[in-house]
Amino acid sequence: DLVVDLKDTGIKIQPTMYGIFFEDINFAADGGLYAEMIKNRSFEFTLPKTGWMEPNSDRHSYNNQSGIMSVVKYGGEGANHNFARVEVKDPQGYVLINEGFRGMGVHEGAQYDLSLKAAKHLGDITKIHFQIVDSLDQVLGETTILPDNKDWKTYNASFTVSKTEMKAKAKITFQGKGEIDMDMVSLFPKDTWKGREKGLRKDLVQLLADLNPGFLRFPGGCIVEGRTLARRYQWKKTVGDIEDREILINRWNTEFAHRPAPDYYQSFGLGFFEYFQLSEDIGAQPLPILGCGIACQFNTGELVPMNQLEPYVQDALDLIEFANGDVNTAWGKVRSEMGHPEPFNMKFIGIGNEQWGPAYIERYMVFEQAIKSKYPEIAIVSGSGPFPDGDYFEYGWDQLKKLNAEIVDEHYYRPPQWFRENADRYDSYDRTGPKVFAGEYAAQSVAIASPENKNNWECALSEAAFMTGLERNADVVYLTSYAPLMAHEEGWQWTPDMIWFNNLQSFGTANYQVQKMYATNAGTDLLSISENGEKLIGQDGLYATAVKDAYTNEIIIKMVNTSEGQQQVNIVFGNKSPKGEVEVLTLAMEDLQAENSFADPFKVSPKKRILELEEGKLAALLPPQAFVIYR
Ligand code: AHR
Repeated sequence: DLVVDLKDTGIKIQPTMYGIFFEDINFAADGGLYAEMIKNRSFEFTLPKTGWMEPNSDRHSYNNQSGIMSVVKYGGEGANHNFARVEVKDPQGYVLINEGFRGMGVHEGAQYDLSLKAAKHLGDITKIHFQIVDSLDQVLGETTILPDNKDWKTYNASFTVSKTEMKAKAKITFQGKGEIDMDMVSLFPKDTWKGREKGLRKDLVQLLADLNPGFLRFPGGCIVEGRTLARRYQWKKTVGDIEDREILINRWNTEFAHRPAPDYYQSFGLGFFEYFQLSEDIGAQPLPILGCGIACQFNTGELVPMNQLEPYVQDALDLIEFANGDVNTAWGKVRSEMGHPEPFNMKFIGIGNEQWGPAYIERYMVFEQAIKSKYPEIAIVSGSGPFPDGDYFEYGWDQLKKLNAEIVDEHYYRPPQWFRENADRYDSYDRTGPKVFAGEYAAQSVAIASPENKNNWECALSEAAFMTGLERNADVVYLTSYAPLMAHEEGWQWTPDMIWFNNLQSFGTANYQVQKMYATNAGTDLLSISENGEKLIGQDGLYATAVKDAYTNEIIIKMVNTSEGQQQVNIVFGNKSPKGEVEVLTLAMEDLQAENSFADPFKVSPKKRILELEEGKLAALLPPQAFVIYR
């Protein structure tokens, strides 16, 4: 039997302890969370030509006997460079197809909102007939637009779909004779998150909200840095009217991945305003990360010279004004005009994603000086680079300690065994040094980012064991997040991922269930839990952490048993004798390879039951390979 004693530690669990890391990787934003169904709606993505095709043609040529589509440049300075010019030659009309993001998912009975800009150019194009069709060309929903203007005009229409289909496409037939110009062709489900027009996919945001996240880190990841500096994420280009947001080739656009994605781009319909709004919606602290003048290390590692760093620093200062400034400030006004006069109350900003070495430290210092002198109240997240990266990881930490950095972001993608063996990772961290943001971690069943990686129970259980160590060290560890967050079944570049989706469905993996159990049972104050004065960090496969929830006056004990046998644990509460019911949440699987899937989305999910406390003691029977929370 184990006897467990509980003592107050005086250590607070930060409200940010369990959060979300969002990156537009694996089609997480365009093709995922951002519910736009038309790929390349503004005809910007021309290399290769993306999204649009003629029927029965995969050549992406736009010229047949019935008509021609050409991409034309506006010629001005704006962010929207191109539009489509359609010439109709055949009285039957000219047809263009938009393939969506690996198809379009439509639901029976659901309403869809179409909008497009058009300007009649030559002759008289009288009709734009918009249809949603399945692979057999059966019409599932349709509407008609009657263009009536020579100048650009936005047309809106709605229709209902008659049948659920995962791989629908849009078929647009132009009728009449002559030429018409077209831009910003957009199709959204009406039923988005909070019913926002051109909003976010409801099921996916719900999965995020259910995590009860303490923070939302955005927009990445490597996309912050870009493969080159010119292709870095620039937040100012992602706010304002969606038409004025200049698209960018995604850093994860690749021909060579397991699932090639040469069509991967960022429309920024989900931009910085929407990220702040999403954070607010789901009760998470916004945590934006900005580039620090170093491009993504996987590629060029391009560096901005120190004497040209100023615009990058200004971006950080302006972002704080955008989030928190009042409506009379330049950037506060932009936020207000987008519909949010109240500040977002941002408290954190991250500088650099996964950078390291002297080049990073040198640049970080400039940001720190500028931010702290203007906004001393904003906490800065700096980076240590990925772990393990030998000398650079240590170097980063040493330097950041010397600089009295506040929060250091660590990333580790390691085998499941490493997670089981490192529950004491933070026990030895300097209590007087910077706080830790465990910003990206995930157990890799095969190898880092291997296409063969699985979101299996062994990985999730190992993470649960490791996370007892995050929580037990809540005086050092202030923020934590699993990564990456989301992946489209047919559009991914990285595995494992916490949430999987296709065009119709989504589910949380076993790892998601573990994260959710922690985050919805975070508590407020750390208690000590030990066996004969020893903390449980894997002896006999047992791990433990305990907290109090000061709001509800409950004690929450998290225990992990990674062994193959069940274990009896008698929990006593020091000299206290609490009474009442104990809610027990058990996540246990005999099969370490078990995974959730579209077909069986809750295979690995917790079961709840109620126990009665007997004489202030809790006799806990831990099943084999289990994560159990007693509340
Ligand atoms: O999470 C996937 C990638 O892993 C992130 O973009 C990057 O920060 C890390 O290397």
